[in-house]
Amino acid sequence: MQATSLGMNKTGASMSPIGVNAMTDAVNEFSPPGPIDTEAMAAQRIVYITESDALGSIPPPPSVKGVLKSGMAKMSGSHPSVFMDKIGERIAFERAGTRLYDALITKYEALSLADGNVLPPARQAALTDEGSALQTLRDEAPAQTLARIRSEELAHFRMLCEAMQHLGGDPTAQTPCADVIATASMGLVQVVTDPRTTLAQSLNAMLTAELTDNAGWELLIQLAEDAGETELTGRFLAALDQEQEHLITIKGWLNALVLKGDATPAL
Ligand SMILES: [Fe+2]
Repeated sequence: MQATSLGMNKTGASMSPIGVNAMTDAVNEFSPPGPIDTEAMAAQRIVYITESDALGSIPPPPSVKGVLKSGMAKMSGSHPSVFMDKIGERIAFERAGTRLYDALITKYEALSLADGNVLPPARQAALTDEGSALQTLRDEAPAQTLARIRSEELAHFRMLCEAMQHLGGDPTAQTPCADVIATASMGLVQVVTDPRTTLAQSLNAMLTAELTDNAGWELLIQLAEDAGETELTGRFLAALDQEQEHLITIKGWLNALVLKGDATPAL
């Protein structure tokens, strides 16, 4: 099991002063006399942007009947198709989130087997009495917390698929925003599934995912409100509640590991 430790890292310039001098001499000798003009590059990019097709398309709008029934026809600020596109995005992200937690659970299990308890228990809000609004905090074993968060991501995915169907859309269609978020999160999957990354490094990638998740749900809630979808808004708010707790948990674990500062192999 590898640790984040000191080693023969040769990537810094200070590792080779002679090489740096040679490089600086070459830069001085061969660089253009004035500032490098990047305008031609920007102009070419503008040509590509202007001429390119859109990144996929939003599936055809749901039936007129479906739109009227769902209340999307009343949407004021944004077009109903934007709502569908963003639901498609969240479907893709919650599915990816489930897989990310699968990978994190495997990493956690591997490190726990080798090094024992590598994460502190997460504080989990629990109802004191049936129906009581009073909450207490109880400790939850990290393995249970990870499994619970994973199941919540999956439940969000399923709930969003239902929401898409309720609005007359097809939850299996890859919308443009779903495509974009899948591309953007590819690096996160690579970090967590890389056997060389530590638990702290993996949690750092998860933090990026949870921050994006929280912002994504906030936006979706606004769109649902705009569409007059009261029931969906309530379900999305409940999901956001859980995502906020995920964020606090991941941040807490990351802080605990990094601030521990003893560079144990568990890191
Ligand atoms: Fe989450």
